[in-house]
Amino acid sequence: MTDIVAALTAFSERFNTDLEKCFPAIEGMENRAVEAMKYSVMNGGKRLRPYLLCECAALFGVGYETAFPAAASLEMLHSYSLIHDDLPAMDNDDLRRGKPTCHKQFDEATAILAGDGLLTYAFEYLSTAQIIRPEIRLTLVQMLSDAAGAFGGMVSGQTLDLYAGDAEVDSDEDAEKIISRLEEMKTGRLLRYACEAGAVLGKAPLDMRRVIVDYSRKIGQAFQIADDILDREGDPKLVGKTLHKDESQNKFTFVSQYGIETARQKAKQLVEAAISGISVFGSRAENLQNLARYIIERNH
Ligand code: IPE
Ligand code: IPE
Ligand code: MG
Ligand code: MG
Ligand code: MG
Repeated sequence: MTDIVAALTAFSERFNTDLEKCFPAIEGMENRAVEAMKYSVMNGGKRLRPYLLCECAALFGVGYETAFPAAASLEMLHSYSLIHDDLPAMDNDDLRRGKPTCHKQFDEATAILAGDGLLTYAFEYLSTAQIIRPEIRLTLVQMLSDAAGAFGGMVSGQTLDLYAGDAEVDSDEDAEKIISRLEEMKTGRLLRYACEAGAVLGKAPLDMRRVIVDYSRKIGQAFQIADDILDREGDPKLVGKTLHKDESQNKFTFVSQYGIETARQKAKQLVEAAISGISVFGSRAENLQNLARYIIERNH
């Protein structure tokens, strides 16, 4: 665990320095939106998605500089999803990454605009990154929009997250299907993109790309189960978010459905399976294996 925390910290330091440069101030009052974007992006996230992207790219011989625009644009898009997720009309949260949420720090309209700005800028930044070959760039833009969107992507997952709790569900089997779909879309799709984008950057052969996708789906589900467990029993000082929101907002989660112990077991099984799946890469996949463990052992 200490190794991966150190690796993630070292990565974050470099990545944060580069990411900050993506947000130059602009003239005039309209800089307020840029300030809010920057506030939310530079607010101390774990940078798991960029790390995954860069690690998966490295497996196929692609270095940090080439992977950076894909990693940065993904983190921008992820940060937009968090700003909007926290809005009063959605989860109505006051705390994010241990600091006031964007709409608390600024105001609701500015937070909506900051989210819009980050979502748009993510695609601008990625699509203009000269260091990535044009045909690969186009593929990444298509993959990212699909992963983030309303046709089976993150927006679909967020929609289910908001409304599934109120739906009549006939059986446990139906409930399990809904939860799996919800988690796969809400969280899974961006984590899957992180890994698959690395493979695409490295022009990985199809069978290797499948191994990466399989790993990403397993850690994606485990990641959201861990998030749901932290909401239930995390340490409020460490998590950096208001706890017990899922229950009070009647969210449909693996934990609400099966209880904390079954959820924990399920997350553990997923991580073990993810670790064994990528063992085909030998010692080069060690960081990814450690990251899979970290995903369920983390305290924030
Ligand atoms: C939180 O994601 C939102 C979910 C998808 C559950 P992270 O736990 O990766 O958040 P940061 O980026 O580290 O703040
Ligand atoms: C948010 O899920 C997922 C996205 C932003 C896409 P949650 O609502 O569970 O995330 P937290 O717990 O607020 O970070
Ligand atoms: Mg939410
Ligand atoms: Mg939330
Ligand atoms: Mg949560």
